[in-house]
Amino acid sequence: MLFITLAVLGCVAASTQSPVVSTGCGKLHTPGYHAVHGNTGKNLSITSDGIPRYYTVQVPTKYDAQKKYPLIFDYHGSTDTPLNQHDNSAYYNYTNKYLVVYPRGRGLNWQGPTYAAGSNDLLFTDDLLAHVAAQYCIDPQRVYASGKSNGGGFVDTLACSTVGDKFAAFAMASAALYTDTNLTACHNKKRAILEAHGDKDSVIPYVPTKDGRGGPLPNVGKWVGWWGQRDCGSNAKPTVDTKPTGYNVTTYSCNGHQDVVKHYHLAKGGHCWPSSDPDTFDNQGGSCKGARVLDFTPKVLEFFGKWNLKNGPCS
Ligand SMILES: *[C@@H]1O[C@H](CO)[C@@H](O)[C@H](O)[C@H]1NC(C)=O
Ligand SMILES: *[C@@H]1O[C@H](CO)[C@@H](O)[C@H](O)[C@H]1NC(C)=O
Ligand SMILES: *[C@@H]1O[C@H](CO)[C@@H](O)[C@H](O)[C@H]1NC(C)=O
Ligand SMILES: *[C@@H]1O[C@H](CO)[C@@H](O)[C@H](O)[C@H]1NC(C)=O
Repeated sequence: MLFITLAVLGCVAASTQSPVVSTGCGKLHTPGYHAVHGNTGKNLSITSDGIPRYYTVQVPTKYDAQKKYPLIFDYHGSTDTPLNQHDNSAYYNYTNKYLVVYPRGRGLNWQGPTYAAGSNDLLFTDDLLAHVAAQYCIDPQRVYASGKSNGGGFVDTLACSTVGDKFAAFAMASAALYTDTNLTACHNKKRAILEAHGDKDSVIPYVPTKDGRGGPLPNVGKWVGWWGQRDCGSNAKPTVDTKPTGYNVTTYSCNGHQDVVKHYHLAKGGHCWPSSDPDTFDNQGGSCKGARVLDFTPKVLEFFGKWNLKNGPCS
């Protein structure tokens, strides 16, 4: 009985989704970043919804085929590529503990905004997760999603979906939140949510005064408050840390879930994945100088490190 009670607390157990099973343990993989399969010149691809879909993968140094790795799906921005996002988040530079997969959007966009190609990217995510779990040795309790801009908005769409029940935490930078424009838009999901957004973001403004390229957008500060209410109830109160230089951190905590919503509000941040490194993909353009006050990637890894499907707020 005790076992059943504990199992029901898990995200997937509480949802209509079947648990992810990793049958990829024992299969050998070469460490490093892979955009093509072996030396065949073929893209890494699967068929989803009847069409070929592509992804790239970062295999950890000293990949141990018998060890269960936590997994991150990292989604690129609109018109960006998996490689661009790999260079933005630069997970490889901070950790060898995660397998990271970079899905490729059809038309380099993700579902949600009006400009997207009309693909079922939630199904693609679910199909790709099953595929990756069959090819690599992963820990199904520790699957995470991150993304930038349109990719960040899609991470929120995922958080608000039943496919998202298989993910333990969600992280976004400069998220294009086209599918989440009011408190009730998220189908009563409770999730561990991390986001960074700058006041100098002209693509997805912190306080929009008109529709974005893909439709109406929420006020980012209000959206953070919606997540606080979804996770912690209608009386949820944020804690705001104004001590850091160049940004404030808003958090919500409840029910033993410390900082289950965490938001970095950058005074001078542009439309970026914040990083102090001038060599990330975003920073090369120079428009992200105002976001160099924050190295977002280690914050994301710290956040992911706290959550799994059993200890999170998932419902
Ligand atoms: C992967 O496939 C996409 C879509 O067909 C293509 O544009 C891209 O150049 C391919 N990448 C590699 C490394 O072959
Ligand atoms: C909230 O957003 C959802 C999804 O976009 C939409 O269907 C619904 O009409 C919105 N509700 C309100 C009260 O605006
Ligand atoms: C942080 O919050 C304080 C108090 O509300 C405000 O004065 C300040 O402008 C904020 N700073 C940033 C970087 O958002
Ligand atoms: C990678 O890490 C090194 C050492 O900490 C740092 O100097 C460099 O800026 C980082 N590069 C990226 C792309 O994050």
